Amino acid sequence: ARADLDRFSHYMGKEISEQPAMLADALARLGTRPDLRALVGDDGTRRLSAVDAIVLIASGSSYHAALTARYWLEGLAGIPTTVELASEFRYMDAVLQQNTLAIGLSQSGETADTLAALRHAQQLGASVTMGVSNARNSSLMRLAQLQLIHEVGPEIAVTSTKTFSAQLLLLYLLSLGLAQQRGHMTPALQQQAHSNLLHLPRATQAVLALEPTLDQWAQRLARSEHLFCIGRHYNYPIALQGALKMQEVAYVYAEGHPGGELKHGPLALVDARLPVIACLPWNRLAEKLLANLQEVRARHGELFVLSDAGLTQADRLNIARMPADLHDLNPILYVIALQLLAFRIAICKGNEIDTPRYLAKSFATE
Ligand code: AGP
Repeated sequence: ARADLDRFSHYMGKEISEQPAMLADALARLGTRPDLRALVGDDGTRRLSAVDAIVLIASGSSYHAALTARYWLEGLAGIPTTVELASEFRYMDAVLQQNTLAIGLSQSGETADTLAALRHAQQLGASVTMGVSNARNSSLMRLAQLQLIHEVGPEIAVTSTKTFSAQLLLLYLLSLGLAQQRGHMTPALQQQAHSNLLHLPRATQAVLALEPTLDQWAQRLARSEHLFCIGRHYNYPIALQGALKMQEVAYVYAEGHPGGELKHGPLALVDARLPVIACLPWNRLAEKLLANLQEVRARHGELFVLSDAGLTQADRLNIARMPADLHDLNPILYVIALQLLAFRIAICKGNEIDTPRYLAKSFATE
């Protein structure tokens, strides 16, 4: 084993467990109050004040981080936002709104499609470009006019875990800064955001403490040939990301769906052999998602539910008790649980974890 693996058997496990400390460090650096200047400096703050729309461009996990961020950029800052897959957008005759900020997200900063798509956005008339990356000296950082750098240390495992959470944290802070700049930040909102951020590192630690339960789930799920991950609202992209983790390291055929879409097709596949993993924070959409889970149960699908509500285990209904609601920051908690679950399934199956078959850390060439 490599010395820097410490007590861990795999980099993926190490990087998952680094997240509470990584988030605490990032918050110590960036603060828990909205502060655009701390993120992008005076010039960046001035440029962003003229922005009327945002397009987020990324691939793979970074695309799922972008999908999550849309809920914050629109919900908190009130800025019309679209999210594009880099490999598609770069060849698209897209129409950008006036004064569009184009943001390329790439933990490596070297994904060829993302670089090409950001250049394409510039050609289409984007008024400002921004890069979000883990790599300060990357091509993306050189290309973009504004830089958001998370630098949470190298991520060795091909499957991204801690850089995904770092992207989410930075995009949440950016959304808060933009909300404040646009006068959308009420004292109540600011207080809630501050408290979410303050409690985040400890809450992620509590998610990691679920490992024994998730390991029990993993032993059962390792026997499944396919599964669904579902969520709603900001946890819909997290369901997509959970499914991607399952594909990448657990080698399970997995699909992510928004709960409300099951009845429009995927439900036809649900039976006793198709387990469904659900992200169920107890919020205004919880009742809706519960109704979706009932649809699964009626078809004998086994449920594995991550929730902060005091739900009771039942036959074919497994519950892992998540830490208390962090509102807009819930996606970080739920994704860490799904990362850990995928990791544990991969361990049970004896898979190659840090370097999954056919995959690479970044696709800098085409
Ligand atoms: C993540 O687990 C994958 N390795 C992959 O989807 C990755 O997110 C994608 O290739 C984009 O990489 P980037 O963030 O470095 O641009």
